[in-house]
Amino acid sequence: MLELELLPDLPAATEIGVFDSGVGGLSVLRELHALLPDVGLHYVADAAYAPYGQRSPDEIRQRSEQIAAHLIEAGAKLIVVACNTATAHAIEALRARWPRVPFVGTEPGIKPAVSATRNGRIGVLATAATAASSRYQALVARHGQGAEVFTQACPGVVDLIEAGQLDAPELRALVARYTAPLREAQVDTVLLGCTHYPFIEALWHEALGPEIQLLRIETAVARRAAGLWRHEHPQDHTHTLPQAPLLVETSGNAEALGQWMARVLGWGQVEVRHWAP
Ligand code: DGL
Repeated sequence: MLELELLPDLPAATEIGVFDSGVGGLSVLRELHALLPDVGLHYVADAAYAPYGQRSPDEIRQRSEQIAAHLIEAGAKLIVVACNTATAHAIEALRARWPRVPFVGTEPGIKPAVSATRNGRIGVLATAATAASSRYQALVARHGQGAEVFTQACPGVVDLIEAGQLDAPELRALVARYTAPLREAQVDTVLLGCTHYPFIEALWHEALGPEIQLLRIETAVARRAAGLWRHEHPQDHTHTLPQAPLLVETSGNAEALGQWMARVLGWGQVEVRHWAP
């Protein structure tokens, strides 16, 4: 578990912005903070609008633009879209609106899955909105050659993870339902195509069985963002202190997110603020 030394009387500087519909992007934030402990990270959870996976492309794009505007105004020089669904529906619009800000997206790792599969059969677990997006379809068409890709949308899973019910019978039932078609398709590799899903990796693993390998994407996303940051800011030592404070905001209930982070990540000392756009 990542240890955080918080320096509460320091103002939190926004250098890199990270956002998701809710807690999912914390799986990316955790890795990014480990890679860049001295860089000020500002996280926004759009919990009032979660799950994005059930929303329309327009809504997802509008929310993403509103959050990016807020992060940029706060000082973000790089933004990590720590959400597959927002990447699928909004990253092009974000890049077009802020051409000078680098945006790092999160997308199911079809390419690494094609390299990892032994039988050429890959499963992807994702939100309904990601699965339906033309960007995701294009990704599969571009990188999925030589393999058969079976995509499974998983409505309901994100709601229970947001609610902190990580071991609820209801969640186990959904996981069993969504993994069954992938087992039937005899995939040997499954991608977790939503940043919320790593928090219940054990449930997916149990339901899929030991023969099926699970691939996650958040480490690669954090590495890509950290690499880009170091490349663009080689001499930037904004903070002379060993660890920069994290700034976490939510459009939902700040206390509930604080409790979730304390329980799941052991980040009891991170302050969470309410953000109302
Ligand atoms: N965590 C997000 C993703 O990676 C979105 C989940 C949701 O809000 O539906 O797709």
